[in-house]
Amino acid sequence: MQRTLGTCYYPEHWPEEIWHKDATRMAELGLTWVRIGEFSWSRIEPTPGELNWTWLDRAIDTLVSAGLKIVLGTPTATPARWMADRYPDMFAVDQDGKLRGFGSRRHYCFSHEGYRTECRRIVTLIAERYGRGSRIAAWQTDNEYGCHDTVLSYSSAARAAFTRWLEARYDSDIAALNHAWGNVFWSMDYERFDQICLPNLTVTEPNPAHVQAFRRFSSDQVVTFNRDQVEILRAHSDAPIAHNYMGRVTDFDHYKVGNDLEIASWDSYPLGFLEDRVGASAENQRRYARQGDPDFQAFHHDLYRAVGHGRWWVMEQQPGPVNWAPYNPAPLPGMVRFWTWEAFAHGAEAVCYFRWRQAPFAQEQLHAGLLRPDSAEAPAFSEAQQVAEELINAPAVAPSQAPVALIFDYDAEWAWQVQPHGQGLSYFDLVLEHYRALRRAGLSVDIVPPTLRHFDGYSLILAPGLMHLEDGLRTALAAAESQVLYGPRTGARDADFNIPTDPLPPALADLDICIAAVESLRPDMPVPLAEGKGAVTGYLETLDGPAEGLIHAENGPRVAVAANKSVYCAGWLDSAGLDHLIATLCTRAGLATRRMPAGIRVRQTGTEEFWFNHLDEPVETEVGVLPPAGVLRRPLAG
Ligand code: GAL
Repeated sequence: MQRTLGTCYYPEHWPEEIWHKDATRMAELGLTWVRIGEFSWSRIEPTPGELNWTWLDRAIDTLVSAGLKIVLGTPTATPARWMADRYPDMFAVDQDGKLRGFGSRRHYCFSHEGYRTECRRIVTLIAERYGRGSRIAAWQTDNEYGCHDTVLSYSSAARAAFTRWLEARYDSDIAALNHAWGNVFWSMDYERFDQICLPNLTVTEPNPAHVQAFRRFSSDQVVTFNRDQVEILRAHSDAPIAHNYMGRVTDFDHYKVGNDLEIASWDSYPLGFLEDRVGASAENQRRYARQGDPDFQAFHHDLYRAVGHGRWWVMEQQPGPVNWAPYNPAPLPGMVRFWTWEAFAHGAEAVCYFRWRQAPFAQEQLHAGLLRPDSAEAPAFSEAQQVAEELINAPAVAPSQAPVALIFDYDAEWAWQVQPHGQGLSYFDLVLEHYRALRRAGLSVDIVPPTLRHFDGYSLILAPGLMHLEDGLRTALAAAESQVLYGPRTGARDADFNIPTDPLPPALADLDICIAAVESLRPDMPVPLAEGKGAVTGYLETLDGPAEGLIHAENGPRVAVAANKSVYCAGWLDSAGLDHLIATLCTRAGLATRRMPAGIRVRQTGTEEFWFNHLDEPVETEVGVLPPAGVLRRPLAG
């Protein structure tokens, strides 16, 4: 499959007279894909039941005639205003009980049956009209599930659906639920399922088992909402179906949604993310202000490659300043090209720029596009053009396996949120920090789901922080030939959020240890490691049992232990500590590492090696001097 480019276009935003010119310019620029339609419900169905397809028919004809391939989005992220009149209770409700009403987007609750019926109806109509033939080359369901905190809803529709979900999970046996959750504590026993409220507006913290169940339920609602659309589209079309996920939106299990789709895609806004959700230090925010974090995009590329079972795209690529972060600087010249190549280096099939033309109206007036509002070229245009030219002689997408597997588990992310034990302790950050350390050691990484059962070909597997370790994964990891890193907190809770007491955790594979005690640490009380090799920060466990100490605290106790091919790390290590841990693991695994200069990252596919300079100054590397925003691509021998 060739690597391709595309853009996001809103014909309904522009006079019809300019569609043809736009389409021609897109094709001349070298774009293959154009995504349309995902916010157009009010123009397709201006009043209930009165459908207006003609403009969309003409838009599709114009784009297809110019040689472009269409990704058609279902419009369910933006129900028209009349829908709110029809279903005044269709909105999500936030944790404080406030309605999240009309006037922007994503204004619906995933559990509202009436709205779900409307979604099935509009998707059926769209699929019937456009599904046959080859005019639609791919589909996108909805838009960015979970963006703007829209998965968790405390509405009455959600409560009713949660009751049904719990009844199914606990086989209609309320005593089983009471026992599993430990409801005897604080007299929280229930007599019937319909007495169970959603876990908000309690006096103090609700039962963690209750909250974790609600998190799992909420995720399942997204999965079935998406599946409804997929089943309809599949019945009418052979084109592949994608969804565009977001960066660091973790409120639903993307692997489960991805299992129903052919392609995973995501929306990559490196500068917006740096300001808004990376959690970078002030120093790194400044250092990478025009380039973006060196690992955050790559992490998502690798994550969504797993979600898409190998097939993934960037559906929206930042082309210039965005409008939504606290500060919105312009990218360094060359960064739009850089981000595009970075995605291809991680196996993307396509990168689409958001958006074709900057809109002079409504919420995103200050969001750049490939064109300015007056249709003149914006700075990203020539960078996209450069990539299009470079792609002519570039090799096709080549599937490859990295030497390291890093497990990312959405269930663990929710468990840490439900019970972080210390302020700011986040599973996402823990996994990202391990990922960063692997990349600082020059390694390419596959992020893999906790449902993986065969680890052939990996020299090293990392499973940090996996709060609930399912038996199937536990067995698969024990059987793997690779070195495996567990902890901290791996296997610390059972499926119902209780501490396993028989045997004490983690009892992992070859490791004959148990966790005797846990503590969280203030930011100003790091525990230094022996020989100045970094420190434990934030979280620390005390280990019992005979396993050999691999890393010790300066004052003596074991922080990491090893037996055969298993390693357990009992603390949250700072970056120096993680570098030391990864180096130790790689030595045990026989994996060669190379120390990357600050801001430099390398990624290998089966056939190519890519070097990226994320700094705004030239950097000397073993492959030569990389200029600011520099990308070096070279074929791999053999
Ligand atoms: C994405 C979204 C787009 C647009 C863009 C702006 O999250 O899918 O519709 O709003 O952000 O950066």
